[in-house]
This record gives sequence, C-alpha cells and structure tokens, in this order.
Amino acid sequence: MVIKILYDEEKAFEGYLTGWGFSCLVDGRVLFDTGGSATGLLKNLKRAGVNISGIETVVISHDHWDHIGGLWPLLNKAPKARVYVCHNSGGAFKKKVLKNGSDIVEVKDFARIAPGIFTSGEFCTRYKDKPLAEQALVIKTSRGIVLIAGCAHPGIVKLINRAKLKFPAESLLMAMGGFHLKDSSKQVIKGTVKRLKELGLKQVAPLHCSGVDAQSEFQKAYGNNFIKVAVGQEISL
Ligand SMILES: [Fe+2]
Ligand SMILES: [Fe+2]
Repeated sequence: MVIKILYDEEKAFEGYLTGWGFSCLVDGRVLFDTGGSATGLLKNLKRAGVNISGIETVVISHDHWDHIGGLWPLLNKAPKARVYVCHNSGGAFKKKVLKNGSDIVEVKDFARIAPGIFTSGEFCTRYKDKPLAEQALVIKTSRGIVLIAGCAHPGIVKLINRAKLKFPAESLLMAMGGFHLKDSSKQVIKGTVKRLKELGLKQVAPLHCSGVDAQSEFQKAYGNNFIKVAVGQEISL
C-alpha cells in the first residue's frame, strides 16, 4: 500500500505546486480530499504520474474549501469515480456533487471503501459556530492501522479512538494529515501528544492545519517516528 501526497503547503520535489489544503492518493485508487485549488491538484496528479481516469473513489473528509478545491475538474476527468461524502455535509455541497452526475455515497457509519481501506464514519462537530461533519480514512496494513485525517476538526484523538475501537486487535501504526492544532494552546498540544502516545500510536505525520508548534512538539516526542511529509512524497506501508 502506497500513499502519495498530492496537496500541501510544502513540496519534496520540484515541479509540484503547493497551497493551503490537503490531498493524497491511497493505493493508486482512492483519492482522499482534493486540496485548495483545481490547478494545483491537477498539476500535481500529472507530475506524480497518476492515471486520473483510474481513480475509482474520491473521499471528501469535510466540505471546507481547502479540501474540495479540485473536486469538480477532477470528476470531469474521472466521471466514474464514486464520491464518499459525510451524510451531514452542507446541503449545497451535496447537491453540487449530485448535479455533477456523480455516484455519491453518504457516509454515516464506519464502512469498507476498498480492500483494506475504510471510512471512519462521520463525526458531527461545530466549527466557527457552524455544524460540521468530518470523516477520516482508516487503512489496515500488515504493520498496523493507519489513519489519515483531513483537518481533524472533531479532534485527532477522537478519530484515532474510533479506529482503535474498530480494530481492537491491531496496533496503531500511524496518524497522518491535518491535526488542527495550529490555534491550540501549548497545553492542548502537549495533552494531545501525550494521549496519542498513551494510545500506543507508533508514528505521526502531521501537516496542513497541524501547525508548526504541534509539529515540533510531536517531533520532540516521537523522534525518528515523526515522519516529515510533503507534496510528491510516497509513503509505503
Ligand atoms: Fe483544512
Ligand atoms: Fe477544515
């Protein structure tokens, strides 16, 4: 199983565009989020040598602009892709996906998406005084469970706990993505790092809205198990 990073503020190689948002491709077939801009996503998919029409599934963590920016042009190029959105996503967003003629799956509960790849199910929370629904990807590998979060607005610990609950016999290998700690206090950041360590999470790859303070705190606590990722990188699991 390989995860290709396709959208972030940092790049690992020349020829990629960067920007605020997140996207990655899992196992060559499941695209998780679509970044903040269509131009960036399409350019990066091309640069990474991804066959866009081969994308079978798109999973949208939540309907914020920096995760759905490349969705519409992508669906034009991969019209058969099935789109997984949270059941409680914004009505206008869901309508737009349907209007686009896409095969839409409204996610409520934990479910299998592809071999070894699952949705966490939706978490309903609030963000900036508005209701927000978010889902994460849960991947079962031979080395343990990997969780990929878009922004983790409900809290990265909550997302990890759900993955642990669904696979109680598996170890927690890695959490990757946006941990949404960029505006959090030192105390909250330290508490989160401590809790993830207690849960037995072996590796972390925080990016996007995780924030630099949280990244350095994770780096301190995880050492070699802090995985620095950026656009263009591939992580083999
Ligand atoms: Fe975000
Ligand atoms: Fe967000």
